[in-house]
Amino acid sequence: MGVVVVAAGSGTRLGADRPKAFVELAGATLLHHAVRGVLASGPDEVVVVVPEVRVAEAQSAIRSLVGSGPATTTVVPGGAERTDSVAAGLAALSPAVDVVLVHDAARCLTPVEVFERVLAALALGAKGAIPGLPVVDTIKVVDAGGMITDTPRRSSLRAVQTPQGFDREVLAAAHASGSTATDDAALVEALGHGVVVVEGDERALKITTPEDLARAERLLGSTRD
Ligand code: CTP
Ligand code: MG
Repeated sequence: MGVVVVAAGSGTRLGADRPKAFVELAGATLLHHAVRGVLASGPDEVVVVVPEVRVAEAQSAIRSLVGSGPATTTVVPGGAERTDSVAAGLAALSPAVDVVLVHDAARCLTPVEVFERVLAALALGAKGAIPGLPVVDTIKVVDAGGMITDTPRRSSLRAVQTPQGFDREVLAAAHASGSTATDDAALVEALGHGVVVVEGDERALKITTPEDLARAERLLGSTRD
């Protein structure tokens, strides 16, 4: 099993003085927390995708984290959109990898149980499996003018997270289509493959804004109590 960790975004909404994955949370970077979580899931290979100017820095940070563990780790530069960064990561996985998880470094506190649930669904034969949680708000579909065009039944909706897991060939084919999307499942769905949603976790929140960073700090504090 291989994991692509995407960490090549700039973090515009967080507004820090450096790319989001290199911002610190409780004394370690988001990237450090994320890779530590990924290693707990027992991957054979990990590819970390970072901004081009951060490749050397990420390589040394990850080397110290992985130590003499069994996983092979590679750091590669990302692209302009998240989809480009995932594609760069996928291309760097060795041919031996047949199952791939794609994980956002921004979801750096994702517990290992979430990785396990995704992998379990893939082991049962799903071509794609992603974590998700029921939504609490009623969600409206609106047109460009803000007029509501649809109200999906809330019980049918899930807010989805990462890691998103796929059969490697299916994900590569989805990326070869050249489309972009905010998650990988959308590209795989577009090819007509079934993707199952497994139970996500509040701790897999995506750190997007300064408020999210504060919430992640509180989550870390409460797990240490
Ligand atoms: N990502 C990436 N390459 C990009 C854009 C995003 O690898 N060109 C990664 C981010 O590093 C992050 C994940 O995709 O781990 C989810 O993206 P998001 O939360 O939007 O992060 P940013 O794009 O960095 O933040 P913003 O949109 O606020 O600039
Ligand atoms: Mg973004």
